[in-house]
Amino acid sequence: MTAAAAALTLLMPASSTPAPGSPGIGDAYFPNAGNGGYDVAHYDVALTYAGPKTGAVDATVAITAKATQDLSAFDLDFRGPEIVSVAVDGRPARHARAGQELTVTPAFPLQEGRTFTAVVRYSGTPRPLQSPAFGTYGWVPSKDGAVVVAEPDGAPTWLPVNDHPRDKATYAFRVTVPKGLRALANGRPGEPVTGAGKATGGKALTSGAALLGGEAGTGGETATYTWAEESPMASYLAMVAIGRFRVRETTVSGIPVITAVDAKYKASAKTLEDRTVKALTWASSVFGPYPFATAGGIVADTRLDYALETQERPVYSGFVPGEAFVVHEMAHQWFGNSVGLREWRDVWLNEGFATYAEWLWRERTTRDSAKKIFKRYYAQRADSPVFAPPPGDPGAADLFGFSVYVRGAMCLEALRERVGDRTFFQVLRTWAESRRGSSATTEEFVAHAERTSGRRLGPLFDAWLKGRGKPKKW
Ligand code: TRP
Ligand code: ZN
Repeated sequence: MTAAAAALTLLMPASSTPAPGSPGIGDAYFPNAGNGGYDVAHYDVALTYAGPKTGAVDATVAITAKATQDLSAFDLDFRGPEIVSVAVDGRPARHARAGQELTVTPAFPLQEGRTFTAVVRYSGTPRPLQSPAFGTYGWVPSKDGAVVVAEPDGAPTWLPVNDHPRDKATYAFRVTVPKGLRALANGRPGEPVTGAGKATGGKALTSGAALLGGEAGTGGETATYTWAEESPMASYLAMVAIGRFRVRETTVSGIPVITAVDAKYKASAKTLEDRTVKALTWASSVFGPYPFATAGGIVADTRLDYALETQERPVYSGFVPGEAFVVHEMAHQWFGNSVGLREWRDVWLNEGFATYAEWLWRERTTRDSAKKIFKRYYAQRADSPVFAPPPGDPGAADLFGFSVYVRGAMCLEALRERVGDRTFFQVLRTWAESRRGSSATTEEFVAHAERTSGRRLGPLFDAWLKGRGKPKKW
């Protein structure tokens, strides 16, 4: 080729024939979760909730994303109510639904590297998912409102989304509710949290929100609450909670701590705040600086009897959590949320670490210790659920199996005993610090622990994460 032709080639974008993005991101446990061909930067969520009678919502979600290939079409994951319209960069787009896949065909192909905005409007009553492994999850109605607890794949019940933890994004929420109810979400409030009950006119939080014109309630009948999650967040951690909440606010070293309890639990409002403050203070001293702008927690009146570490503001569904429980969800802010998952297979990086944090808390506050707790579990029979399945690849059905939590935590105790306290806590802190805001794998953690300790640790991690039955040597 001539020099001129070569220069031309360099100037021209490397373009191929536009093709549809793949319907899954490539997670072995959830083949349809996430999608290929683009990367989301921001979700702008404007949602009007009609009230508990119908549970209906009117929503407009604006998704700002970057094409990672030349796209003729792309999928979102969506299991919500009826779609009203879809537009891409302001032009109506064709759309089709099949299962959780919402396929969007823009009026024009999207070139690799291009940033585009997809706006999806929908209307109707969202429904939760139900499964033997994960119980009731996603958008969950309550007596007075609703709460979202979406792990692992429940976010599409209420949002059109690239539903995989490896595609983190920032979020803005604008939630309009009938007067008398309040709405909370992840991140920072856009209004003073104690100023409940008055309509705000739904002022946009981010420039992206300008795309959403005409959504917010401005009359006397509704109130609009805005929240902004400014740190990258996995879709399963996105949350709104609507109901009759009592909200408290305090600070810990300058970090706003916003807690809320459903009116039914109003006697425990201070208890939740105290435990959250204690957990935040202690966890920061052990794991390093808190990775987010705000902290908190929400006790909802849904009776799911589990909690979820929704970013900055965990949800406790149907109970007031004890100290160790709050410590568990707080630890997830470092391990699971800030340092997220690249594959669901590696979920022990979330649950093993959060469980180990509970053991450390008990070591700190009782006569018990992580070592003693480890020993008691280790004394269990080899066929105990403590040991199976191996936490390094538990399978989707056992994603939250007992062994993922306990044998995962035992793996960390084995590491601690091998490398010593000083190195062990350095491994945890530098893991949180160096991977802050990203998504990681078990292999990366093993390499990190080996580098930090200067020891070969492959056999220890293999024994604890992969071996069948009770590990005997490591
Ligand atoms: N990540 C949650 C925690 O450990 C656990 C969780 C979320 C869960 N969804 C679930 C457990 C469904 C069982 C079923 O705090
Ligand atoms: Zn957990």
